[in-house]
Amino acid sequence: MSTLTKGKDFLSIDDCSSEQFLGLLSLAEQLKTGKRTASLRGKVLGLVFLKASTRTRVSFTVAMYQLGGQVIDLSPSNTQVGRGEPVRDTARILSRYVNALAIRTFAQAEIEEYAQYATIPVINALTDLEHPCQILADLLTVQEAFGDLAGRKLAYIGDGNNVAHSLLLGCAKAGVSVAIATPTGFAPDPAIVARAEEIAAQTGSNVIITTDPHEAVADADALYTDVWASMGQEEESISRQTLFRDFQINSTLLKQAKPNAIVLHCLPAHREEEITNEVIEGPQSWVWQQAENRLHVQKAVLASLA
Ligand code: CP
Ligand code: NVA
Repeated sequence: MSTLTKGKDFLSIDDCSSEQFLGLLSLAEQLKTGKRTASLRGKVLGLVFLKASTRTRVSFTVAMYQLGGQVIDLSPSNTQVGRGEPVRDTARILSRYVNALAIRTFAQAEIEEYAQYATIPVINALTDLEHPCQILADLLTVQEAFGDLAGRKLAYIGDGNNVAHSLLLGCAKAGVSVAIATPTGFAPDPAIVARAEEIAAQTGSNVIITTDPHEAVADADALYTDVWASMGQEEESISRQTLFRDFQINSTLLKQAKPNAIVLHCLPAHREEEITNEVIEGPQSWVWQQAENRLHVQKAVLASLA
């Protein structure tokens, strides 16, 4: 089974091939169902989180504990990072103490700098550009719901953000067609769209970028949304509530997808904004399985890299 290469970084979905992406999903499924085991005994993961986190922080921590490893919380408020010690120095020092770093920050350039200077694997635990570990859990959930991935269609409704970017790349790698519907001016990064189109051409899937949520959800097997204003965009959250009003997953939009479509959300959710309470609590919601799958894919990522 081809997964991630030991010792390498995982900064973007595009750091793995289609084969490695599907291999990670397979390893996660086998670890989840007990068909396979892995050991990280004696290994230590450092968590450098410059933004809040429940799922990512806890799933990485529990994944390490359950595989026999340990975790050290390197929050900037407790380290010299918070007092401005340069990334290149921090990365080289931490490499001499821990076996891998999971980093949540703002600029992709910052995590790339960590990776450049660290001699241990650096894992993207969310940046403004991407959220690769999330998308592994998302596609594992789609695979569990339908038994397969190739030929499925996922529709993402909302902001063309980090989650949308990783979904574009991840769906394309998995042969899942992806439609992204955003308000005008909030489309995903054109360079990522172009790269997703390139990958999709190889895997026989489609990439659709639109401002029409109805077009996006037609024939979709999975509907996905995320907050309208991401961490770091708090000052825009009020203005975005008006701009994004028509980009809500509600029961009317859900009826326009396939009858057995599942609903996904990376969480945390803002009920009655990007998703209604009725839909997130409804029978088509797979958001809790999706959140659980964060644990299983983190194990697959850690066991491959560390
Ligand atoms: N989905 C996700 O990454 O959640 P957290 O911000 O709680 O880690
Ligand atoms: N797009 C969201 C995802 C949170 C898990 C954010 O960056 O805040």
